[in-house]
Amino acid sequence: MTAPAVLVEDLHVAFGKNWALDGVDLEAAAGTTLGVLGHNGAGKTTLIRTLTTLVRPTIGRAHIEDLDVVADATEVRRRIGVTGQYAGLDEFLTARENLELIGRLTGLRRTARARADALIDRLGLDEYAARRVGELSGGSRRRIDLAASLVGSPSLLFLDEPTTGLDPLARAGLWDVVDELTDAGTTVVLTTQYLEEADRLADHIVVLSRGRVAARGTPAELKRIVGGKVVSATVPAHQLAALPFVPDADRVDDNRVRASVTVDDAPAAIALVADLHDRGIEVTDLDVASPSLDDVFTHLAHTGAHK
Ligand SMILES: Nc1ncnc2c1ncn2[C@@H]1O[C@H](COP(=O)(O)OP(=O)(O)OP(=O)(O)O)[C@@H](O)[C@H]1O
Ligand SMILES: [Mg+2]
Repeated sequence: MTAPAVLVEDLHVAFGKNWALDGVDLEAAAGTTLGVLGHNGAGKTTLIRTLTTLVRPTIGRAHIEDLDVVADATEVRRRIGVTGQYAGLDEFLTARENLELIGRLTGLRRTARARADALIDRLGLDEYAARRVGELSGGSRRRIDLAASLVGSPSLLFLDEPTTGLDPLARAGLWDVVDELTDAGTTVVLTTQYLEEADRLADHIVVLSRGRVAARGTPAELKRIVGGKVVSATVPAHQLAALPFVPDADRVDDNRVRASVTVDDAPAAIALVADLHDRGIEVTDLDVASPSLDDVFTHLAHTGAHK
């Protein structure tokens, strides 16, 4: 059997007295995408930094393919690509020059230029290639940052919040690039604050909370933790007190409120809607939905479940 692409066992990382990671176990099979979710300060970046050899484990082990991130750090670095929350591009060079420079720094000699051109072509960066990075918008820089992480043809790619601050179009573009890479067999570990992003890209998700794994599973498995159906109805504000449940309520405008409640299953949702009708509640909009990963997150925040 081949080794998992990423294997983390009992990983602890302390900064002074603060345990940024407090006993994390996880693995990712080669060619899959692992999504790491968590609130600010949960330990996502510390996990990525440990896996990419920038931070040493205080206790426990982390392996990339068959290599130990401490003992075999140099070889690990050869196999991985990393894009950070803070991009390390030279502002005064063009996008193409940046990619070429990175190629030379990582040991590509005469082929550095060709590699840069190939990535520009593959990631659709032609319109930025000749512009200085310092002049580009944040979204364009993210895409060049991603290209930079691919110069060394890594079999594993680490993306720390790759789409934070991107507009929806740029985000979708970056998702397509990640899809292409995973289709070609690259293993991806990405952190994100966007549940929609994890839902869209990840085969498996690990939710970190205060340095520990609060939940893990496929997106579908995590949604099943919450279960039930979410009924949301837009009703007149003055009828709020007449609802047969205590809702989560958001004001839509001066007169209307969006009231939501989670019920056990579809028949319960139907009964609830019938009850609203019987009570003469004037429903102007209605949705019955399965829980989203957002609901999983809210649920975990409330229960503080650790697993
Ligand atoms: N170099 C460091 N020195 C001291 N403390 C650190 C360092 N890096 C991280 N920490 C602490 O470790 C904890 C986890 O931080 P980390 O950056 O891993 O969280 P995160 O999940 O990436 O958060 P965010 O969503 O804000 O990016 C925090 O309490 C943070 O203050
Ligand atoms: Mg972070």
